[in-house]
Amino acid sequence: MTAKPILVIGSTGKTGGRVIARLTELGHAVRGVSRNTEIPFVWEKRETWPEALRGAGAVYVTYSPDLAAPGAPADIEAFVAAAAEAGVERLVLLSGRGEHNAIRCEEIVRDSGLPYTLLRASWFAQNFSEGAMLGQVLEGVVAMPAGEVAEPFIDLEDLADVAVAALTDDRHEGRLYELTGPRLLTFHEAAARIAEAAGRPVAYVPVTLDEFHAELSRQAGPEYAELLTELCREVFDGRNASLGDGVREALGREPRDFASFCRDVSAAWTLPS
Ligand SMILES: NC(=O)c1ccc[n+]([C@@H]2O[C@H](COP(=O)([O-])OP(=O)(O)OC[C@H]3O[C@@H](n4cnc5c(N)ncnc54)[C@H](OP(=O)(O)O)[C@@H]3O)[C@@H](O)[C@H]2O)c1
Repeated sequence: MTAKPILVIGSTGKTGGRVIARLTELGHAVRGVSRNTEIPFVWEKRETWPEALRGAGAVYVTYSPDLAAPGAPADIEAFVAAAAEAGVERLVLLSGRGEHNAIRCEEIVRDSGLPYTLLRASWFAQNFSEGAMLGQVLEGVVAMPAGEVAEPFIDLEDLADVAVAALTDDRHEGRLYELTGPRLLTFHEAAARIAEAAGRPVAYVPVTLDEFHAELSRQAGPEYAELLTELCREVFDGRNASLGDGVREALGREPRDFASFCRDVSAAWTLPS
């Protein structure tokens, strides 16, 4: 246990929230930051970084909007320098599988000279229950440009367990963990399991990248649409259709299956009456 607080960037997010809950439960001093916390941390405002980093021991780094964003490597490079300057003792970076900018960011952290662990995660199962795809699940149609490619969805309960281990235990220093679930599922198969747990129809409709871009542009604006479309173009070309060993390597146990994830979160898919 370290006396210095563990800094969690993206503390209100899907993984940051889980990491904070676990660290607090274990009795660690924690400082969670995001754009709206008492000590703010804003990726676009580098002047906010030193105060957030002051006195921190280990740091859990989640980048927004996504490590696949074109500006991510420059920000991560500057962040790593600021972390070293602040005397940070360990960096744990949440990264994405098969994304070239994310891999560039991993290299920056790896070459920083600071102790580090890299968490290279597959598509989150919780995207369907808390993330951008919850609305689609509630409407009964998941429209993604993923064709029939298979993805080994990672349960964020596993990812948070690995992150906490990496933040608190030297044995994970210098490791790159490929974090996936235990099974490859197409989006058709994932939608079928969600439908079964939700007790109502949920269908997967494959769309083209152009259709996806046009719809997302309408909903979230052209910049975000561009980022997500390019991310999908990369990660749904089959490169990620394999299982990783990261959960077993880090924790000595199997990752949780998508079916048990569906059972556990099925309340999230209940329509308001
Ligand atoms: N979704 C996936 O399937 C997937 C797969 C692999 C890797 N990843 C990686 O996961 C990371 C996201 O982690 P997550 O899902 O835990 O987060 P999240 O649920 O997307 O939440 C984002 C967090 O960051 C904060 N935030 C948003 N914009 C910010 C900004 N400009 N400056 C500082 N903080 C900001 C948010 O709080 P406020 O809004 O209050 O600031 C929130 O705490 C991304 O880097 C992505 O590459 C995602």
